[in-house]
Amino acid sequence: MKLTRTADLWWKTAVVYCLDVETFRDGDGDGCGDFRGLTQKIDYLDRLGVTCIWLMPFYPSPDRDDGYDITDFYGVDPRLGTLGDFVEFVRTARDRGMRVIADLVVNHTSDRHPWFQDARSGRDSRHRDWYVWADEPPPDGPKGVVFPDKEDSLWQYDEHTGQYYLHRFYKHQPDLNVANPEVRDEIARIMGFWMELGLSGFRVDAVPFMLETDGQADASRLPDPHDYLADLRAFLSRRNGEAVLLGEVNLPYADTMAFYGGEQGDELTMCFDFVGMQKMYLALARRVARPLAEALRERPAPPKDGHWATFVRNHDELTLDRLSDAEREEVFQAFGPEENMQLYGRGLRRRLPPMLDGDPKRLKMVYSLLFSLPGTPVLFYGEEIGMGEDLRAEGRLAVRTPMQWRPGPGAGFSDADPSRFPGQVVEGRYGPDRVSAAAQRRDPGSLLSWIGMLTRRYRENPELAWGDLDILDTGTDQVLAHRCSREGGTVVALHNFSQDPVEARLTLDELDSSWLLTDLLVDGTTEVASDGTAVVRLDGYGCRWLRPVPRDQALPD
Ligand code: NOJ
Repeated sequence: MKLTRTADLWWKTAVVYCLDVETFRDGDGDGCGDFRGLTQKIDYLDRLGVTCIWLMPFYPSPDRDDGYDITDFYGVDPRLGTLGDFVEFVRTARDRGMRVIADLVVNHTSDRHPWFQDARSGRDSRHRDWYVWADEPPPDGPKGVVFPDKEDSLWQYDEHTGQYYLHRFYKHQPDLNVANPEVRDEIARIMGFWMELGLSGFRVDAVPFMLETDGQADASRLPDPHDYLADLRAFLSRRNGEAVLLGEVNLPYADTMAFYGGEQGDELTMCFDFVGMQKMYLALARRVARPLAEALRERPAPPKDGHWATFVRNHDELTLDRLSDAEREEVFQAFGPEENMQLYGRGLRRRLPPMLDGDPKRLKMVYSLLFSLPGTPVLFYGEEIGMGEDLRAEGRLAVRTPMQWRPGPGAGFSDADPSRFPGQVVEGRYGPDRVSAAAQRRDPGSLLSWIGMLTRRYRENPELAWGDLDILDTGTDQVLAHRCSREGGTVVALHNFSQDPVEARLTLDELDSSWLLTDLLVDGTTEVASDGTAVVRLDGYGCRWLRPVPRDQALPD
């Protein structure tokens, strides 16, 4: 593997960590997380092995969609600090070798954004055409309400000007009109601004919605959505050759591929693997690896320098919308049977540990899977210590509770009175007295220690990120065995989805009995027979990462 190349295409071996500044760490004692608090915790993230921090929206906002409703794209919400605090944070992260990306939310603004305030002031206003207006909701317009608990239409009537405006999400989030060249220029300006302040790219919110122009009247003006996305990527690369676009595209694989930009690979750098994530939960629910194995076999390789971004949990509902109704019901029954655990009829508002009844072996197996499958692993804050959800909180906020740094009522998140926190700290079995970073840091058997080891092994074995993927047959349905090979190097990983110990039979044609399979996560070796077969033993929910090495060099680096 050419080391220069692995460094240039840094995202392929990155460990991404998503956090909300508001709930991560309060540095000034007012009860709200802020950039100063986050900066104090950079060494924690560095020790964990994080190489790229993804900031959820931190811009000024009325906070009616947890910051995804922005009133100023060029500022920092005063509750979280100042632009100066932001720059100090980015600078400190870079000093530790970490890059920073941030949410780019330009499908819509808040309805309190000055552009929209102006737009709705009159049909001739300066910013009227920055949004999408219609006399009547067009029959050929976009379909599908995203938040069916709160909205029943994508169009909201504006009394003052007598037209409807489009809102893909909540009605307080009017959609920007990307058919307007001024809007496209402004989006580039926003990106340029934050890149100048040190960002290495963006997680692009709601990409297909941002690009959609269905049902709009003036078709001649509309850019081809994919040309436009390629333009944005080209602009970004001109400003900073190492910058990435990590896109939220929750579509079947074939449709998602279009957002990488076809064979040229000139649009998004990475797309989240929503399909693989959902099939993984189905496999967990069934205790059988096949649904995930099938998804991985179907998953196309991204073009050129593109890469999948893999995840177990993100900040939204754990969406199961790519499963059939019957499959979704299976996952609901296994992991969230109560109505209060489900959301929008399509997802769960739980974190993984409570779904797995806190089973440490099973949890560790899932994260081993995350770090061994090809794709850039993306962690959501608190996953590394096994935080649970708070079902008392509204909707998706159940999984966005304050980070649990240490035991005690404020969880080390803040010294202020907890009534001033942005959300309640989790209580009970997953509360800070039982689940905290401070306690796990001192425990070599903790989830935190395990994930720290996984980040190191994943980066030390670049075949996992760069290699060609093969799903291997093991003669047992419970086990997912996959192999990543590149330039003569191979890593084989096995994961047992069932609670029972199993023996998995591997056939590695190029090997014979002069080879051994050496464990990368624990000490151990497995014999290879003269015909290249090996029998690998796995505990219930066990996992192993193996590297073939010649018998006389049985200890790999
Ligand atoms: C997708 C984000 O992940 C979600 O949290 C947000 O509510 C919507 N986009 C609207 O911005």
